[in-house]
Order: sequence, then structure tokens, then C-alpha cells
Amino acid sequence: MAANLEASREPFSLVIVGHVDHGKSTVIGRLLADTHSLPEGKLEQVRLQCERNARPFEYAFLLDALKAEQAQGITIDAARCFFKTAKRDVLVNDAPGHIEFLKNMVTGAARAEAALLVIDAKEGIRENSKRHGFLMSLLGIGSLAVLVNKMDLVGWSQQAFEAIRAEYLAFLKPLGVQPVAFIPVSALGGDNLASRSAAAPWYQGPTVLEQVDAFERPRGRESLAFRMPVQDIYKFTEEGDDRRIVAGTIEAGSVQVGEEVAFYPSGKRSVVASIEAFAAPPRLSIGVGEAAGFTLSTQIYIKPGELMARAGDPAPRVGRRFRATVFWMGRAPLVAGRSYKLKLAAARVAVRLVEVRKVLDAAATGELEAAKRQVDRHDVAEVVLEAVRPLAYNLHSEHFATGRFVLVDQFDIAGCGIILEQMDGQDSLAAGHVKSREAAWDRGLVDAAARAARFKHRGKLVLLAGLDGAGNQALAKRLEQALFALGCNSYYLGLGNLEQGLDANQGAATLSQAEQVDRLGELARLMTDAGLLLVTALPGLDDADLEALQALQSPHELFTICVGESPFSRVRPSLLLPAGLSPAEALDRALKGLAQGEVLTDYSI
Ligand code: GTP
Ligand code: MG
Repeated sequence: MAANLEASREPFSLVIVGHVDHGKSTVIGRLLADTHSLPEGKLEQVRLQCERNARPFEYAFLLDALKAEQAQGITIDAARCFFKTAKRDVLVNDAPGHIEFLKNMVTGAARAEAALLVIDAKEGIRENSKRHGFLMSLLGIGSLAVLVNKMDLVGWSQQAFEAIRAEYLAFLKPLGVQPVAFIPVSALGGDNLASRSAAAPWYQGPTVLEQVDAFERPRGRESLAFRMPVQDIYKFTEEGDDRRIVAGTIEAGSVQVGEEVAFYPSGKRSVVASIEAFAAPPRLSIGVGEAAGFTLSTQIYIKPGELMARAGDPAPRVGRRFRATVFWMGRAPLVAGRSYKLKLAAARVAVRLVEVRKVLDAAATGELEAAKRQVDRHDVAEVVLEAVRPLAYNLHSEHFATGRFVLVDQFDIAGCGIILEQMDGQDSLAAGHVKSREAAWDRGLVDAAARAARFKHRGKLVLLAGLDGAGNQALAKRLEQALFALGCNSYYLGLGNLEQGLDANQGAATLSQAEQVDRLGELARLMTDAGLLLVTALPGLDDADLEALQALQSPHELFTICVGESPFSRVRPSLLLPAGLSPAEALDRALKGLAQGEVLTDYSI
């Protein structure tokens, strides 16, 4: 019987937050002591130590004592303790350096199913009471109980308790947070923690322990639509085998062999041919929480970072601009004009701040206030962000795992957030930039037609964009040479040169694909305007990159050449050459293609 009871106990993880000195550690210390969850003799030992040092005993010291023991084995940034309730084995995190802990929560290193938020009855609601309450909602912790602590200091006044409750509810309401309980407690006296207190006969609700058992678990991810962020694509290396394994960890739902799947944002589809397990026999279905590898029945070109879903399920949203709530932890503020890296599921994409809508001013009135231009450290703000390329995501209210993100500034996690609303449909930042650039363009007196007549070709960016990077680069150089021999103003643009130059203040930099596209687009706009035939090879491009490049190039157009397989699905390359041509043949076909495409205006085919 006893063994049965043990087996049916559930593990549960809890986090305790609140303003400094409001009593978090005392609550935990008291819970540990009152549930007899402390190691044998620990309480006496700490009491004795206090006596020896002539310090008054504090329950919070218990945590320090436990922490010192734990720290020998593992590194900890939040004190982790265990206690047992009637139903559950509770792991509780005391978050002293709350920023560190929150960082861990947003990156998934730490997790909590419910939160206790402690407010000092005498001091009342303070800055972090608000900030933490809000952050718990931001992190998707729907189960929040508020402990109004130190009730002994206000004479167990029901009025004081109700006043805090009303004020805090009013604060949380516009943020969409609804605590499941407010509990008047005294951690010092152990009132309403493990046992009901006689000091507050007016209070009918649960004790803290009863509430911990009553917290509902978050809805099971197994029942949600299948989602797997693609971490990597592995190729079989055995001879003659060109299958690829799409690998990742399943975030929600499950999928079976034979089911049609889709990848976002590319929208490409295929059918699951097999489920590969490492050092285990293949299987027919796989579900949430598992690391999975899939082979597909058709070879499609997808990249790590895409989101795999079942084709029959509602698709995630795909877009670039959205409204979000962010919590900023960066030393430098979140500002417009600067590029940040957004991580959402397995996707990594550069984003820019479009607009700050509101900032939560926790120190003052606690309302979301308008009219701030940037988001400072520890601010919670509502902002509009725009990604440089389409991103697959969900609203936070639709699907938690794909509705939250982390922002990286340089190499540091600088913020986290949740997506509230899709905002596509207006001009993108890039389109706005091109519009104002073109409106302000200072034109000379020689126009494009005059240049084309003189040079026998148009100014054009010729882009080799196939999958074979090295082969494309070689072809681009031969093309420059052959065009030059024909009398053209051709120039091979080495992409590495974009990293070394162009920005004297920044020096050499490793550019992301999006930054390369940006620089190339701007440069090509100038050089093609001068009538040049620019030839370059840029591997690894996809539809979104090509569209971005095309937009930056406007009013001039791109000429895209792919050899073998085209990596694009929406955009058709200007010229698609078959694989396996000799270098001379490839060159000849490329020249003919340029003539047919009316880039070369005086070339006989
Ligand atoms: P930080 O970890 O520094 O943020 O503080 P904390 O929230 O963990 O507070 P802690 O538990 O260390 O308590 C702060 C002080 O409040 C200690 O001196 C406690 O003894 C005191 N305290 C905690 N709970 C009560 C209570 O119910 N009544 C009274 N009178 N004092 C309390
Ligand atoms: Mg503490």
C-alpha cells in the first residue's frame, strides 16, 4: 500500500519570486521544516550555529546551509530544494538573482509549473512584485498564487490583506494575469503555510501546501498539433545513399510514418518515410519530448531552423513583423536601427525594433506607459519587431513553445518575449528604406539607356546561386573574364570583400547571411546604376534572401543563374543550367542566357 502511494506521487516544480526581503527564503525554509523535508539534524544544527554566533535564528539560513552543501557538487544559481506535500514531490527554486534565473527559464534550462509570489503585507506592492508577476505570465506560468506575507506585522488585518489583493489584481488585469489564490501568511510563524492559522478566522481559502497540491498542471503537450523545430539535417555518408535525416526534438504532438508533413517558413512538403532512432530499431511513430530523426520520401531542400508540422494540421503563422511583449535584460538598451538575433524554437533570424508601443513603469504607477523610444534594462515593454526574413511562429496564446523567443545582442541573451499579434501587411522596414532611398536618389545627367547603348549591355547583378558554392565561384570568375573579353564592363565581386571593407568604422566582421544580402544589395544598386555587369556567387540563398536582394536592387533587376538543382521554390531563377556540364559548356550556356535575357544587347548567339 505504502509502495503504491509512493509510486503515484507526482513530481512538481515551483518557483518562488517577489521583491527583495519580502520573505521568499523564509517561506521555503518554513515549508521544508514543517513538511519534515530537511536532512536529519539540519534544523538543530543551524539553530545552534546561530546561537554560537549570537545571531537570531532565521528560516532563510536553512537555505544557505543547504545551498553550501549542494554547491560542492553542482553549480547553482537558484537554491533548489525539495519538499513533500500530500500529493506531490515539489522541487522549488528560490530565485535570489532573479535575472539569472529568468534567463535560465527563458532558455529552457530551468522550468517551473507554478509560481508563488510573495508580497510583504506591511511594505505592500513593490517594483519586483509587479515585474515578477508579469514575467511569470510572460514565461507561460499560468498557475500563480500570491502569498501576502508578514501578516503578523499588520495585526492580521483583513483590510490590509484585501487592500493589497485589490491593488495587485488591478495591476495584473490589463496584463491578462489571473492569480489562482491570494493567501494571508506569516512565514515567520508558519501561519497558513503547512497548517491553517487561527490568527485569520476570516480567511477560508487554502493553505500554501493545499494550494501547491491544487495547482493544475499545464495542458499536456501530447495533445497539441505536432511540431518539431529542425535542428539539423544529416546526410547518410554511405556510398550511393543520398538520403537526408531531418533531426530535432519534438515540442508537441506526435507523427507517424506515412504521414504528410510540411516545413515552415518554406512551406515545402513531403511524407515521413522512416523514423530513425540512434542505436535502436526503426519505429512507426514518435511523440513529444523525444529526439527524432526522419527520412522523407522525396528529397526536398530545407534548412535547419524550419518548423516541421503535419500537413493536415493548422499551419503556424509565417511572417516578418509582429507585436510582442519583451523583458529586456541587456546592458545596452533595445533601440531602433540596431540588429538583434532572435531565437525562436530552432530558428535564428536578425530582427529590428520598429516601434516601442508601451513600457511598463514598475517603479511608478505600474501602468503601461506610452512614449518611450527605447527599452532599458529590466524594462517590460510592448514593442513591434520585424525580422529580416519570414519566420514561422505562433501567437503565445495559440502555442506556447513557438510563441516565445529570446533576443541576443552581440553574444549575450539580452531579452525574452512573447508574440501577441501578427502585423504583416504594412510596408516592411526594408521596403520603407528602399522607398525613401529612391525618393532621395541624386541622379546624374546620363541615364541607363545611354549607358547600355555605349557598353552594349545593361547594368546588372548576375548572381550564381546554386547549391555548389565552389563551382559557382569558379564559374562567376570565368564569366567575368569572358564578358570582359567581349568588351563588357564586367566585374567579379568577391563576397569576402564585403566583409573586409565597406564599413571603415567596424573593421572586418563575420556577416550573417542577412547582412551579406544587405551589403550586396546596396552595393549592387550603386554599381549597376553605373552600368556595370557585376558577377558574384552567393551560396546558401533561399527564396527570402533572393526576395530581399531583389527589393534592395530595385529599380534594377537581378539575373540569377543556378546550376543543377534550384534551391528556390517560389522564385524561378533567370537561368537554370543542368548539372554535369563542362566548364566551357557552362560558360557558353551562361553567355547565351545573358543574351537571351537581354542583358547583353549586342551578342550573337
Ligand atoms: P531576498 O532573498 O534577499 O530577496 O529576501 P527574501 O525574500 O528571501 O526574504 P527573507 O526570507 O530573507 O526574509 C527577509 C526578512 O523578513 C527576514 O529578516 C525574515 O525574518 C523576515 N520575515 C520573513 N517572513 C516574515 C514574517 O512572516 N513576519 C515577520 N515579522 N518577518 C518575516
Ligand atoms: Mg532569499
